[in-house]
Amino acid sequence: MAGVLDANRVLEEIGLKIGDTLLDAGCGEGRFSVPASKIVGVEGRVYALDASEERLGVLRGTIAEQSIANIEAFLGDVTERISVDDDSVDVCLMANVFHELVEDGVIKGEMEEIRRVLKPDGVLAIVDFKKDVERPPGPPLSVRLDAGEVENVVGQYGFKRVRAVEIGPYHYLILLVVGDLAHEGDDHARI
Ligand SMILES: C[S@@+](CC[C@H](N)C(=O)[O-])C[C@H]1O[C@@H](n2cnc3c(N)ncnc32)[C@H](O)[C@@H]1O
Repeated sequence: MAGVLDANRVLEEIGLKIGDTLLDAGCGEGRFSVPASKIVGVEGRVYALDASEERLGVLRGTIAEQSIANIEAFLGDVTERISVDDDSVDVCLMANVFHELVEDGVIKGEMEEIRRVLKPDGVLAIVDFKKDVERPPGPPLSVRLDAGEVENVVGQYGFKRVRAVEIGPYHYLILLVVGDLAHEGDDHARI
């Protein structure tokens, strides 16, 4: 999927910047964590969390090879308490994983954790597969969610959509913030 989902474009659309703290929830092998670490720089931090030790092992290899100092990669379940302080994260990214958690019926724990760790003006960024034509890459159409369905799910936890954009042929990105900040629309610092 590397060629069809441009991580730098996603991070640019999110507005990630120097000094930010990003939580890459379900980071996999670090497709987003690694470029994000270069954007946030030495003053910033990337928490890269995944439930797969094998995938984290690949990311740890990249961290070692490239001597990356600002990624903290750790094993964990995003639906349970994670080792990140309250109100400490500027952007929480969930890429290609949200639909899985909804399908597994475990989204409540995840959303509560995200609300806990995000700063009050933090952004939740969800990248997922378009729900148009069933074709690889991606899960079966029956488990895909469109941006409106994502908005309905996260809306139950206080998030409101600020913007949704297509990212390449297979994906969309939806940016959400908590409560009234959503009404600030384009004036929001990051969106
Ligand atoms: C399709 S991969 C996407 C990886 C990466 N975000 C990307 O887009 O390249 C989904 C990842 O989510 C992780 N994952 C699934 N459920 C999880 C959970 N409850 N907690 C942490 N990670 C989870 C999987 O281990 C897998 O690495």
